[in-house]
Amino acid sequence: MQQKDNEYLTVALPKGKLFGLSADLFAQIGYTAEGLSDKSRKLIISNDEKKIRFIVSKTADVPTYVEYGAADIGVIGKDVLVESQKDVYELLDLGFGKCHVMMAVPKAAKRAKLTDYAHTRVATKFPHIAEQFFGRHGMQMEYIKLNGSIELGPIVGLSESIVDIVETGTTLRENDLEEIAYIMDATARLIANRVSFKLKFDRINTMVQDLRKVLAEQAK
Ligand code: PRP
Repeated sequence: MQQKDNEYLTVALPKGKLFGLSADLFAQIGYTAEGLSDKSRKLIISNDEKKIRFIVSKTADVPTYVEYGAADIGVIGKDVLVESQKDVYELLDLGFGKCHVMMAVPKAAKRAKLTDYAHTRVATKFPHIAEQFFGRHGMQMEYIKLNGSIELGPIVGLSESIVDIVETGTTLRENDLEEIAYIMDATARLIANRVSFKLKFDRINTMVQDLRKVLAEQAK
């Protein structure tokens, strides 16, 4: 079993927004797998000819699978990667899934300056990123960890602000929130387990080179 496992390259793909683009990218370098979908209940899908296996994972768990070596490589947003604080190699910026992390507040309750929010509550999926950001501004905050629909926080009085990602800006607009501070840009990244990267260097390196070519072609 162990020997068979080592022949395979295991790739963790995140469910949700990044899934389709990630699967398409791997398909373009010849790594397809029949029935690969984030809607399917089948969570591991292999291509025995190419000796590749895809794990369909909840987004926030991708860095965990990769750090522990349950997956050799993975695709994950830079925002989730930084938040995870996992020890993995970041191999490639895949360019898609572009968004940025920011702080937003209800328009109607906007304060004059950032530091006026010191010691208030922040609803966020990214408490570590938020803490680093506010720390840089000398601000102590109370962090309320939510797992989705972060924008609800200030609307229902759970928090004064949010730290979350913005892609199109639609969610902020539709909920009368306004961005008041930029925190960091994020795109999808290819990450690798540190041991796998050494043991399976040739395969992973070839994959990275192939992906680079596809991305360069797309950028033309
Ligand atoms: C993300 C994020 C925002 C929204 C931003 O949520 O948390 O709510 O997308 O995108 P927009 O600027 O294009 O409106 P996601 O869709 O991942 O769902 P979630 O709220 O359940 O986390």
